[in-house]
Parts: sequence; C-alpha cells; structure tokens
Amino acid sequence: MAPGTPLPGDRELARRGPTGTEWLPDGVVRNADVDWDRWPVEDYLSENYRHLHPSDATVIDHHSAYLRGLYPGNTARSLEFGAGPNLYPLLLLGACSREIHAVEPAESSVAYLRQQLEQGMDASWRPFYDRCRSGNPALPMDPAPVLARVRVIRGDARGVPPGGYDLASMHFVAEAATEDQEEFQDFCRAFVATVRPGGHLVAAFMENLGRYRLGAGPQWPHHRVDAEGVRAAFAPLTEQMRIERIDADPTLPDYGYTGMVLLTARARSASQG
Ligand SMILES: C[S@@+](CC[C@H](N)C(=O)[O-])C[C@H]1O[C@@H](n2cnc3c(N)ncnc32)[C@H](O)[C@@H]1O
Repeated sequence: MAPGTPLPGDRELARRGPTGTEWLPDGVVRNADVDWDRWPVEDYLSENYRHLHPSDATVIDHHSAYLRGLYPGNTARSLEFGAGPNLYPLLLLGACSREIHAVEPAESSVAYLRQQLEQGMDASWRPFYDRCRSGNPALPMDPAPVLARVRVIRGDARGVPPGGYDLASMHFVAEAATEDQEEFQDFCRAFVATVRPGGHLVAAFMENLGRYRLGAGPQWPHHRVDAEGVRAAFAPLTEQMRIERIDADPTLPDYGYTGMVLLTARARSASQG
C-alpha cells in the first residue's frame, strides 16, 4: 500500500458525518445533535459557490433592490446570521453598512472566512461582487474596504444579544440548522430579535429540501419549508413582509429542492408588541 493511502478504518472515519455516522438517524434531528465543525467547506464551495449560478444572481438582485433603499453607510451595524463560508451576503451588506458581523459556529467555515478577510477573497467571488456592484453602485470597485468592515464571530447565532443591529440577513440557515418545526421557528425568532424594532431583514430559504449530501460526504439535516411556512414563521414577528419564490436552479446539484424563498421585512415596532 502506498504511503499516505488511507486505511479502510480511516476511510470509514472520513465518511462519518455530523452525528458521527454516515447516515442521519431516523427521527427528527435537532441543532445540538449535529457537529457543525464537520461542515465540508471545500465540497460546499465547489458545488455551490465557485461559479455565479443564476439563482445566486437572482438572490443578489433581489436583496440589492431592497438594500439600495437604505442610504449608503447609514446602517451602523449589520449581521449575517449563520454565515457559513459564503462571502456574497457579506459583500451585499457592504453596500449600506459601516460594520458587518458574520456569526457562524463551524470552525471550518470561520477559518475560511477569516482567511478570506486576511489574505484577500478567492478570485471565484469576483463575479458575485460584480453582481452586487451592478445592483448597488455605492459599492467600490475594490472589495477590500468592504471586507475590512467584516468581523467574524464564532458562535451559535441564537446567542446574539437582541436588538443590537440595524439590519440582519440570513441565507439557508434556519431550515438547515434543524429538522424540528419548533426549533426552525426559534431560529427565525432569534434572527428577527437580533435587530432593533423596525430593523431591516433580508433572507433566503431552500424550498422543500429534505436531508442532503455534499460531495461524497455524509447526510446533513434539513427542515422542509415553503413560502407559506416562511410566511407563517415571520408574519407574527415582522411588518412590511414581502416574500417571493424562484424555481430550482438546474445548474446546481439536484439536492431535491424545488426552489428558493426570498424574504424582506422589518422587525415589528415595539408598539405593535
Ligand atoms: C446550508 S449552510 C448555509 C451557509 C451560508 N449561510 C450560505 O449562505 O451558504 C447552513 C449553515 O448554518 C450554520 N448553523 C448551524 N447551526 C447554527 C447556529 N446554531 N447558529 C448559526 N449558524 C448555524 C451551519 O454551520 C452552516 O454554516
């Protein structure tokens, strides 16, 4: 056997997933059941974010149209709730935010984000940034000053103190972080609570996605949600809510989802309870 060839035992170990096995157990998987540090950054990026897919462009255009309405630099602090290794939401937030916090529990994703901030973003993010700029001319040609405003914070985003942000965004997190309907609702509630009353919210959700795999890796949990489920989760918490949906992107792997649900809203004012 060649030096460095993994032993069968090592291969078995490498296949072990977020709950220690390749396949998730029967029943509902909750956030605490999952070892998020096992998140496979390289597989995730290569399947989803090494190219600007039509669905990314649509999400960016959708969010840009909302963020354009917020004056550049007028939003003191913004939050990306469960950032993963995805840079485009942070670039989008740069159009209007003086300070951007990216909260994420997985060590692998946090390490990737910090490396991107310290050493400059991978060239593959440039088309994403150009799309953000075309939707929002307030963004400078050079993304470096935008990235300089980002701080990466490792942790559970549900622990973010309430009310500290003017704007929060969340991409594919509440429905990916649990399979439990009540916990999904808790994630949505925690996301809304991060902003001050009247604070701005933008989000995207995978529509009707169940458990999925990345690369040849193990299964990851997912809660099936659609536009009505998103509406029901956010209606009691927000005002000026707008929901759109787009069809599944045929250029992405066939994870079994049916589309994406896009949301903009404002956190309910204190007077509305
Ligand atoms: C499908 S990925 C989405 C990542 C990224 N937001 C994106 O747009 O690609 C789900 C993310 O939720 C994160 N996550 C899981 N539990 C979380 C928690 N308690 N707080 C914040 N993020 C969490 C995972 O670590 C992972 O990065």
